[in-house]
Amino acid sequence: MSRFQRDVCVIGGAGHVGLPLAMTFADCGLSTVIYDVNKETVQKIKSGEMPFNEEGGQELLQKVLAGGNLSVCDSPELLSECRFLVLVIGTPVDEHLNPNFTAIHRAIDKCESQLRDGQILILRSTVFPGISRHIQRHLAKKNLDIHVAFCPERVAQGYSLQEFREFPQIISAFDPDVVDEVRDLFQKVAPEVIEMEPMEAELAKLMTNAWRYIQFAIVNQFYMIATQNNLNFDRILHGCRHRFPRLKGMPGPGFSAGPCLVKDTMQLAAFSENNFILGHAAMLINEGLPGHLLTMAKRQCNLSHMTAGVLGMAFKAESDDARDSLSYKLRKLLLLEARAVLCTDPFVTTDPSLVPLDKVMSESDILFVGAPHSEYRKLKIPRDKIVVDVWSCLNTTSDQRIDLIAAGHNGNGHL
Ligand SMILES: NC(=O)c1ccc[n+]([C@@H]2O[C@H](COP(=O)([O-])OP(=O)(O)OC[C@H]3O[C@@H](n4cnc5c(N)ncnc54)[C@H](O)[C@@H]3O)[C@@H](O)[C@H]2O)c1
Repeated sequence: MSRFQRDVCVIGGAGHVGLPLAMTFADCGLSTVIYDVNKETVQKIKSGEMPFNEEGGQELLQKVLAGGNLSVCDSPELLSECRFLVLVIGTPVDEHLNPNFTAIHRAIDKCESQLRDGQILILRSTVFPGISRHIQRHLAKKNLDIHVAFCPERVAQGYSLQEFREFPQIISAFDPDVVDEVRDLFQKVAPEVIEMEPMEAELAKLMTNAWRYIQFAIVNQFYMIATQNNLNFDRILHGCRHRFPRLKGMPGPGFSAGPCLVKDTMQLAAFSENNFILGHAAMLINEGLPGHLLTMAKRQCNLSHMTAGVLGMAFKAESDDARDSLSYKLRKLLLLEARAVLCTDPFVTTDPSLVPLDKVMSESDILFVGAPHSEYRKLKIPRDKIVVDVWSCLNTTSDQRIDLIAAGHNGNGHL
């Protein structure tokens, strides 16, 4: 019989990763606590309102609140009653792209009075390799008999509830008994668990994201090479991928940023003593894409006489999350060049400067697609609008797309 009254507390449980996980634990019948310092979001969750877009999230939140398995708090009192503490706060890189090593230590110190011997602290934030060991020592220095595990999150934001149930969960800990306990916990959720050493798991998570980021970068560089040479990249991409299994999984070009991929690639770069050349190159390419789109537009239009519209400010399609979105970098660059810039997004609610889609459509001379939300695919784009659509998501005629066909070249290259 466990000496703890409750099963699990998710610290940072109101966040994009924490909330879906907490709801999933509660839905599995585990007595679950959300602890988060964001009072406003905690209030929303308590009242049954999902604070961000998550497929199936709204229904599940209401179900688990009604079921009585989920408690939601903005103070840490209930931590002491929980067997497992799952910590999933943000772990950003700083303005020099260096990992912030102290965020997790500070979060632990903040709730120290509620920590109890015998608890298991599961780190789920993405961390710099070696941080789990460091946290284990940090707790020992406080004379707390708390064991640390590292079990990274690998789901795609917005689709967590489905992906928890589909993908294997990597688990790791310093003590075999703790591995057994976290295996039991995650087997309630995931179809399979994969065991490794904590530092291997820390690297596996960073490498997963760096791999994705580099894949996007290579296609973005191909797009830049083609378009710099006035070639139609849509046709090239179709030719490369069509019924050719070795390029299965090759993504299309587009903005690649958001709260994870860049910073995790930079964490891996820092760990490799800045010898992760592919990672740094990917960062330069992906971060350079908004500038490339602007250069293409300037080559063919006098932007200073034009109003530019940006469709989609979230960091990816169908998301309401604008954190580290490259649409904002594009907006910054356009503000220096265009007569006016109008931005819109159907999901982002955090930016009061955004305007309705109708206004962008009627007042813009040139349209850039920032995030390829599905509703943009259905738009009728008037013939007089010029379009820069790296995602190829708008329904345009081929002569409207200046990123496909440069002035005077009609897509035939150096003619
Ligand atoms: N967003 C993703 O798709 C994703 C995917 C995999 C892994 N991750 C990793 O998960 C971690 C969290 O990311 P996120 O997107 O959920 O961030 P987030 O900002 O959405 O959520 C973090 C939450 O932690 C809370 N918080 C901060 N300090 C706290 C403290 N001391 N005590 C209690 N709560 C605190 C914040 O209020 C916030 O609600 C990061 O390390 C990230 O790299 C994110």
